[in-house]
Amino acid sequence: MTDQGFSLFQITLQQRASAVETLLSELLSDRTQSGEISRPPRLMAAMRHGVLNGGKRLRPFLVMESAALFGADNLAALRVAAALECIHSYSLVHDDLPAMDDDDLRRGQPTVHRKFDEAAAILAGDSLLTYAFELIASDETELDAQARVALIATLARASGVGGMTGGQALDLEAEKVKPDEEGIIRLQAMKTGALIRFACEAGAIIGHADTKDRDRLAEYGSAIGLAFQLADDLLDVTAEAGHVGKATGKDAAAGKATLVSLHGIEWTKRQLAGLVAQAEELLAPFGEKAALLKDAARFIADRQS
Ligand code: IPE
Ligand code: IPE
Ligand code: MG
Ligand code: MG
Ligand code: MG
Repeated sequence: MTDQGFSLFQITLQQRASAVETLLSELLSDRTQSGEISRPPRLMAAMRHGVLNGGKRLRPFLVMESAALFGADNLAALRVAAALECIHSYSLVHDDLPAMDDDDLRRGQPTVHRKFDEAAAILAGDSLLTYAFELIASDETELDAQARVALIATLARASGVGGMTGGQALDLEAEKVKPDEEGIIRLQAMKTGALIRFACEAGAIIGHADTKDRDRLAEYGSAIGLAFQLADDLLDVTAEAGHVGKATGKDAAAGKATLVSLHGIEWTKRQLAGLVAQAEELLAPFGEKAALLKDAARFIADRQS
């Protein structure tokens, strides 16, 4: 703890967040980049509104800390972190659309389709998704071609039909036909878990970790990914919109199947504690070097926003 009462975890999360935000604001400027014909200013403004609007930047933190665990605290890790934040932000822009969760507030500000319009929100999401892959593939991401291809393939899988978008489809279906516990866990592992798992696995790829360590990081990512959505579902029940920067009470109103609706608040809190313990155990072989990643697991479970 510092004199101001901030932990090393909080300070590092803040530092990583500002590094990724600085890079993203350069990358998403109106300035046309080499090979582009032009950058439509209104679309760029909608993209910036979807990304540079005060997220926690937890996924970038996980990419960078996981890479640092394998000695790769470098520009490549920062660029992959920025790419993942583009995909995460796009998923939120589309998640908020009227055809999906129909939300007006995101990160304490009007959602992209509210501030601009639906077409702009759809295109901003599409553009962020493709831009993420361009960012990783670029020669400026100083990594050997094999590692870049591994990152692209793993991120594509995590974002697509067998991961995030597939999970979003199951999540919408679950408003009509209620899944059982196993079904809810599966859809959450896809809609939220897959990108968080990627964040941790990406660090291992960037750091050229061996297969055993890469799998261990991916498993840690799955445990905290599930914890992340459980905490999100708890906040939807217990938090105030003003505090979390987005509407709450929406899951119950939509009849959304969550583990909180199935088993209640106390059960969910016990599950969260179990997932934190599992995440810590997975990191045990790395010793003190993984202290901040262990803190991240606790932060995710206890988060208040
Ligand atoms: C919210 O993610 C959406 C879920 C996957 C539950 P975050 O809570 O990480 O949102 P930001 O990026 O901090 O706004
Ligand atoms: C969103 O889950 C998950 C993705 C965007 C992939 P939620 O719909 O629960 O997220 P919030 O509560 O709107 O942030
Ligand atoms: Mg949703
Ligand atoms: Mg939503
Ligand atoms: Mg939610």
